[in-house]
Amino acid sequence: MIKINNLSHEFVIGKKGRQTIVPVLRNISLSVNRGEIVTIVGRSGSGKSTLLNLISGFIRPKEGEIWIANEKVTDLNEAKFADFRINNLGFIFQSFQLIPSMTAFQNVELPLILKGLNENDRKQQTEEMMDRVGLLDYQDHYPSELSGGQQQRVSIARALIVNPPVILADEPTGSLDSETEEDLLKFIKQLNRDLGITFLIITHDDKVADIGDRKIELIDGMIVEEVLV
Ligand SMILES: Nc1ncnc2c1ncn2[C@@H]1O[C@H](COP(=O)(O)OP(=O)(O)O)[C@@H](O)[C@H]1O
Ligand SMILES: [Mg+2]
Repeated sequence: MIKINNLSHEFVIGKKGRQTIVPVLRNISLSVNRGEIVTIVGRSGSGKSTLLNLISGFIRPKEGEIWIANEKVTDLNEAKFADFRINNLGFIFQSFQLIPSMTAFQNVELPLILKGLNENDRKQQTEEMMDRVGLLDYQDHYPSELSGGQQQRVSIARALIVNPPVILADEPTGSLDSETEEDLLKFIKQLNRDLGITFLIITHDDKVADIGDRKIELIDGMIVEEVLV
């Protein structure tokens, strides 16, 4: 489902004349099979988020190629990548990344607006999704009026609304208490089992890594260990 070949990346920081090159990922190759849950672990600064941002197309690699669902995404231009992303990738972030001025319903509906669906279809699909994540009664509330666990469920609903084959998550439980975290992990397992969604999850939390089929460890931008869990 995801295949990465010899991926390298560096950031250039500072102004012209006094620039520093910061190598972040070195020659990364990995694949994630359809229906797998793979976790990426590693210390802060090891390059985990950069790897996810490259897979998401938010930044472009210096070298290497990335394939997602048989598409060589590193060849897509920005507009084509945006289109690919909206149809194929769902995102879950530690900080939820909900739009504060929009209600829960509007946040979940947004990807369908970007996809160009009409209002009736959007309303029907969004309500169905709010029901599925157990938030039908809260759909007219703003993110600030919801608990962390509820906000994370809104963000999952937003990720799921376009039926993506792949969900990418960066520290999805980082802002949740342990009970809410358990609920979320069960939900991820259920989505994986029932809908066959492939998950690539960055975490530094053993409880999250434990739900994966496989764990990949990054140290200083290199894959040092692949562990079956
Ligand atoms: N936009 C950026 N510009 C410059 N350096 C960056 C940028 N993003 C990340 N880095 C650097 O790249 C390294 C890896 O960062 P990151 O991928 O966020 O690691 P992790 O998610 O594992 O904590 C760090 O040294 C970080 O400071
Ligand atoms: Mg990070």
